[in-house]
Parts: sequence; structure tokens; C-alpha cells
Amino acid sequence: MAMPKLKSTGSGYSAEMDEAESASRDAIMSLQTKRLAWSLQHVYDNVAHYKRAFDAAGVHPSDFRELSDLAKFPFTAKTDLRDNYPFNMFAVPREKLVRVHASSGTTGKPIVVGYTQADIDIWSEVMARSIRAAGGRRGMIIHNAYGYGLFTGGLGVHYGAEQLGCTVVPVSGGMTERQVQLINDFRPDIITVTPSYMLAILDEFRRQRLEPRQSSLKFGVFGAEPWTNAMRAEIEHAFDMDATDIYGLSEVIGPGVAQECVESKDGLHIWEDHFYPEVIDPETGQVLPDGEKGELVFTSLTKEAFPVIRYRTRDLTRLLPGTARPGMRRMEKVTGRSDDMIILRGVNVFPTQIEEALLATDWCGGHFIIELSREGRMDEMTVLAEARPESWDGSGLAAHAEKVSIFIKNTIGITARVQAVAPETLERSLGKAKRVYDKRPRG
Ligand code: DLL
Repeated sequence: MAMPKLKSTGSGYSAEMDEAESASRDAIMSLQTKRLAWSLQHVYDNVAHYKRAFDAAGVHPSDFRELSDLAKFPFTAKTDLRDNYPFNMFAVPREKLVRVHASSGTTGKPIVVGYTQADIDIWSEVMARSIRAAGGRRGMIIHNAYGYGLFTGGLGVHYGAEQLGCTVVPVSGGMTERQVQLINDFRPDIITVTPSYMLAILDEFRRQRLEPRQSSLKFGVFGAEPWTNAMRAEIEHAFDMDATDIYGLSEVIGPGVAQECVESKDGLHIWEDHFYPEVIDPETGQVLPDGEKGELVFTSLTKEAFPVIRYRTRDLTRLLPGTARPGMRRMEKVTGRSDDMIILRGVNVFPTQIEEALLATDWCGGHFIIELSREGRMDEMTVLAEARPESWDGSGLAAHAEKVSIFIKNTIGITARVQAVAPETLERSLGKAKRVYDKRPRG
């Protein structure tokens, strides 16, 4: 069966939006219905795991007639992918793969994903669309500081930027001094990097006594980790640039699953012509209505090599109606993964909540870590927050730190010790920041 294509609507197409971005909600939903039918049949015919899982659940691709029928099909979890390591989830012969990537995973085996040439073309298309929605245009220079290698960030952005017609500087992560030198010398318009590493680049600008607001950077495409609107304000102000959020995960394709539009900055438009989102109650698996917060689940609509059906991302968010791209729904900024949630004496807390509390001060610029320890039978949380160089008085800013602690108590409802530390003392991430250090005894 050939992959269903979008029927040309002939409306609203412009150099700033492709046909799918300007399509109506009805046109997108009708396309999704056809593509879902294709995807379900494709996995049933070609991936032993999906045939087994569908058969065990008593469903067949022919039971799918409308979008709501998707709820009859079983979820796919990270463990299913691990159990089929390395190549057993592929729906095409290995020879058809032009590339594999792998997500690091903190424990055990990585998750391996693969792409046919057609998959790479689609990925490049959604990435080109994402960079353009972030403000990028043909002819611009893009400084790509996402890591190259098995991580999808570097190469994903790279191919999309080329497709859009940009000049790519493939710097990858690390060697921060050189990053700043290249930004100064090449004068890129766009930077693509994790928000936490952008802060390290900012520090380096200051260390070299360069004014970041005078840099050539106009647009930043930041993602791969949770970050807050407070952090956006921090970066936008420091560099005098527009910062937008990009979301994606290796299992679904890599970066470019959803992107915030620079004109609205109101959450991320999901490229729904290729990725079908659902939000479920993580406990019961029930599909939640749009607007309710839960776990994000994705089904790929067009992928050949590594299709996923109802893949549980563990990322928490809600679906909202489209704005700048009315045919595509938005997802609210991801506040965290269910895996990152800290339960401290019965209260749930995400590192992003701590980030918000710290950035509400004027002495902390956003570098922080959270340490969990156990004293007696009580779990304790200590937040080590780095002071801005201009705020550091050499003594620990005790009164200021205490104020944040009270703020955290009043807003999140937990008791956390906040300790200001000297500038440049916390380790910098080159990619995704590690925020939580759990020192509690196991068991
Ligand atoms: O992080 C892909 C990516 C690269 C996205 C570059 C954006 C930019 P993974 O390494 O497989 O893929 O990690 C995916 O990272 O499930 C989320 O938990 C988290 N994540 C990714 N983007 C965001 C974001 C890449 N914008 C996991 N906000 C996902 C919050 C994000 N979390």
C-alpha cells in the first residue's frame, strides 16, 4: 500500500509555511486517519512484536476505521524496545537502513532506532519546518551545538538546516571557548543547543568580556531537556534574541516532533501530519480529553524503518488547540518526565519548579543542581544554586538563599535547603543537564 499523501487544498500556502502547516484541521484529521491505517498494517505485517501484541489484545489493523479506534490498540513501552535490542523492532530489512541512532539511557542497553532514506527525508522536512517556525530562513547561518553522533540532536538539526537552505556550522557540543570564537567570527543568525549549554556559552561570552547582546544571534532553537519560561526570559534578555522550544525523542524520530512558533511562543505545535499524539492517564492508560494533563503518547504515521504505535514517552504535558498553525494541535511545554519527578515526603516536585524559583531571584542565573539525601529517616533536598558573578559576595548569600527556601515552601510546599555557591563551581553539561543527584541509600 502506498503512503497516503495530503490532498492539495490550494489555500494559504506561502514561502513561510508548507502545505501541511497551512492545512485545515479537517484536512489533517483525514490525512491522519489514512496514514494511521497504513502504519498499523505496516507494523502488523512487518514487526513480530506488534503482531504478537495486537493478537494478544485481540485487535487487528482492520478494526481501525476512525481516529478514536486507535485506543483499542496496545501501548508500546520503552521495555518493549529494550527487549528487542538491537534490530528486532525494524519493519524493513536491515539493508534498507541508511542510518541508526541510539539513545544513551542511564542504565542498561541503549535503544536503537533506524531510518530508511524516506525516513531521513521526512525527518529533514519536519526539522526544516521547525527551524523555519523558530524564525530561520533560507540563506541564514546556523551554529549547531547539539551533539553529533548516536544522539539525534546534531544530525537531525543538520539535515533539516541544509534542507531549509541554511549554511550549517556543525560545531557539536563542547569546547565552549571555541564556540564563542566561532559565533563571533562567523556571525550566525541561529543557534541550536540545549538551554543549559546555552547558559555555559553565555558565561563564556562574559568571561571573554564580550557583550552577548551585540552578538549576531537572532534566533535560538532550544530543547532536548525541560526548561522554563523563566529560563527563556533569561536567555532572550541576555542575547537580545528570540528563543523557542523544540521537542522530540529518538524513538519517534529525533528532534522535530513539535516546535514552538516564534510569532506566538505559546507552546509547541506538533507536526501532526507525521506524528499522532494522545495524552493518557499514566495510571489507568485512559485517553484524556484535550486540555488535561497526563503522559504524552505518540504513533508515527509515515515512518518506514522504525514505526511506533502508541509509544509511551513518560513526558508530562497537555494538548491544546492550534494557534499559529491552526490545523495542528499544540503541546504545553514539557514540565518533566515522570522519571524525573522527585517525591519528597509525599510531595511531587520537578526540577523545573526549582528552576523557576531560582530564576525569580536576581542573584542566580540558572545553574543549579538538586541533591537528595537521607538524614535519619527523613529525606532531605538541598539545592545548590550558583550565584551570578556580579552578585557573589564571597560569603554564601545566606539571607538571599533563605528567601528562596521560603518561596519554595510557600509555592511548592516542600522544605528544601538552598545554598548559594560561588560562580563557576557547578559542573557544566555539554548537552542535557543532569539536575538531580540522588544520594539516598538504596532499598
Ligand atoms: O533529546 C531529541 C532532541 C534533540 C530534541 C534536540 C530536541 C532537540 P532523546 O535523547 O531520545 O532525544 O531524548 C528524548 O528528551 O522524551 C524528553 O524527556 C526530553 N526532551 C526533548 N525535548 C524536550 C523539550 C532528544 N523541548 C527526551 N522539553 C524526551 C522537555 C524534552 N523535554
